[in-house]
Amino acid sequence: MSTTYLETTRNVYKEAAENPQKGLCCTTTPVWQLPGLVIPQKMLEMNYGCGSTVNPRDLVNNPNILYVGVGGGMELLQFAYFSRKKGGVIGVDVVDEMLQACEENLIEAEKLNPWFKREFIELRKGDAFNLPVEDNSIDIAAQNCLFNIFRDEDLKTALTEMYRTLKKHGRLVMSDPTCEQTIPENLRDDEKLRALCLSGSLPLQEYIDRITDIGFGTIEVRARRPYRILDPVNYDTPELIFIESAEVCAIKDPMPADGPCVFTGKTAIYYGNEEYFDDHQGHVLMPNQPLAVCDKTGGNLAKLGRNDIFISGSSWFYDGGGCC
Ligand SMILES: C[S@@+](CC[C@H](N)C(=O)[O-])C[C@H]1O[C@@H](n2cnc3c(N)ncnc32)[C@H](O)[C@@H]1O
Repeated sequence: MSTTYLETTRNVYKEAAENPQKGLCCTTTPVWQLPGLVIPQKMLEMNYGCGSTVNPRDLVNNPNILYVGVGGGMELLQFAYFSRKKGGVIGVDVVDEMLQACEENLIEAEKLNPWFKREFIELRKGDAFNLPVEDNSIDIAAQNCLFNIFRDEDLKTALTEMYRTLKKHGRLVMSDPTCEQTIPENLRDDEKLRALCLSGSLPLQEYIDRITDIGFGTIEVRARRPYRILDPVNYDTPELIFIESAEVCAIKDPMPADGPCVFTGKTAIYYGNEEYFDDHQGHVLMPNQPLAVCDKTGGNLAKLGRNDIFISGSSWFYDGGGCC
């Protein structure tokens, strides 16, 4: 397998560190507004993600956070907002120039945010394929708009590395482009387009399968939004290609015997006349109280063929709670 695309990727982000490029990745998520949080202008311009990996629900009890592919440092700063301790956030990047730009942005952030101390974030030079981080030491690992660039075996290695660093029940939070159409091979092999997060995407289900193959027992699809278009006029494609961006959290829970629990925003509602419905598999539905269910449980309940249980479709905005 060619590894030159990794070198191209490093060069693209060396350039993006030296000359900030607004809209390089074009996030579709509004930037978090949190009390007392001021994001330096250059850091904002270097927002090279495609969504957000920062979710306050994950960030209780001063967690240890690992962030791979630091960019301008905006999400590092947002994570530090929730983990205000020395070295609470470890940022890893393979590109010296990006680490340098991130460092400068964090120094500026310290001037603008009285609550923030530069020491909350530790920057480490390192590669997603060989993380300079101890086993089982991290509560929340995150990456935004990096892993979609990686080809099959590299993606597997990067996910395995994240898994290794996480504590039991730790969370891997990711934001990446996904695409349900077949992206033509000529575009997939275009190293620059791939590095720009435009042609490496997988269909969402395949993306989830890659994650559960590593051993993550629970998956939450937290958001799915329109992201970009590759059109036949500007790209070498016979048909228009629609790319989405997905925010997915993978939890290092043990793998259930019957396969992973994947929450895509399905809900079960019991509307019968009994006091409650119990499937004797751990799911109790109270009348007219929606219960978030994973796809597996939703499927099992649907198979019962009852006319007093409604299973909604996937909202793709799963927000916690649920059956498993
Ligand atoms: C698309 S940018 C995303 C930056 C940041 N996550 C954000 O949301 O703004 C990709 C980042 O990953 C870094 N990177 C590229 N290849 C890497 C690798 N093999 N290991 C670690 N970081 C890498 C780049 O230098 C860049 O900072």
